[in-house]
Amino acid sequence: MSANIKLASSYIDPHKYPPGVAFSDGQYVKMKDAKVSILDWGFLRSDATYDVVHVWDGRFFRLDLHLERFFLNAQRLRLTIPYSQKEVAKILNNCVALSGLKRSYVQVICTRGTSPKFSRDPREAENRLMAFAIAFGSIAGPEQMQRGLHAIVSERVRIPPNSFDPRIKNYQWLDLVCGLFEAFDSDSDVPLLRDSEGNLTEGSGFNLFVVKDRKLATPDRGILEGITRQTVFELCTLEGLDVEKRAVSVQDLMGADEAFVTSTAGGIMPLCKVDAQIIGSGKPGTITTKLTEVYWERHSYSEWTQPVDYSVA
Ligand SMILES: Cc1ncc(COP(=O)(O)O)c(C=O)c1O
Repeated sequence: MSANIKLASSYIDPHKYPPGVAFSDGQYVKMKDAKVSILDWGFLRSDATYDVVHVWDGRFFRLDLHLERFFLNAQRLRLTIPYSQKEVAKILNNCVALSGLKRSYVQVICTRGTSPKFSRDPREAENRLMAFAIAFGSIAGPEQMQRGLHAIVSERVRIPPNSFDPRIKNYQWLDLVCGLFEAFDSDSDVPLLRDSEGNLTEGSGFNLFVVKDRKLATPDRGILEGITRQTVFELCTLEGLDVEKRAVSVQDLMGADEAFVTSTAGGIMPLCKVDAQIIGSGKPGTITTKLTEVYWERHSYSEWTQPVDYSVA
């Protein structure tokens, strides 16, 4: 087949996009119009950090914690976010308000950007901020929430902390994406990745908790320190439950009474089967269910939430 070699006078995008609103280069645009340069280091080298917060029934959940983490991580990567934290909060508000969404998945990204001469020196790139609000989506759908997620323990090792600091939320996701394909090949939902010592770390966009004799434990190393994980610590204090950050082995998981995973994309989600092993009773456990209930209840409390100002739209 011979290609028609000429520059398109106007670019027609053949892809489909979900409804939503993005912020890019100082403008609010529909998702289909939000573009990133193919010369952006964020695209070419995964040289970026990002954060995800959700809006539930018109209120941001723990926005301050997400923005603090985002700004700290940008600093760790020597990225300069070209807006203040207050301005970024406003940008996120405006994306949600313009989208009209009451339950939204809101992502903010700072990329290294492009350098005018395509130099190999990251210091010459102009850092960029982008954000978008689309409909809320969960790692676990309603059926998976009822029956519990099924996971595999991947043979893949999660990128080690001495290669890249996992506390920095990042797009080094190919170990997780390959793990997802491994999970799908075994008719499972999600992968869990281990570290080089064989301890469990995290999965494709979530942290892990195990429960044994009413005591909770979660991996303390090689992970993104999730805001939902942090929220579970606070809920445990409120509920009088013990929770420990420590090395969690595959045996700990297989022998647990209950297990669950946590993410902004879904909250607290039960994990009921790992490889061929049923965890506990094989159903979402009582502590998991209680924590899930109080987690969603707290979405209307003013201490942890703030209302979206829809009047700007
Ligand atoms: C690798 C990884 N671990 C853990 C999490 C959970 O973090 P959070 O609770 O802040 O959403 C995420 C979220 O996307 C993630 O990408």
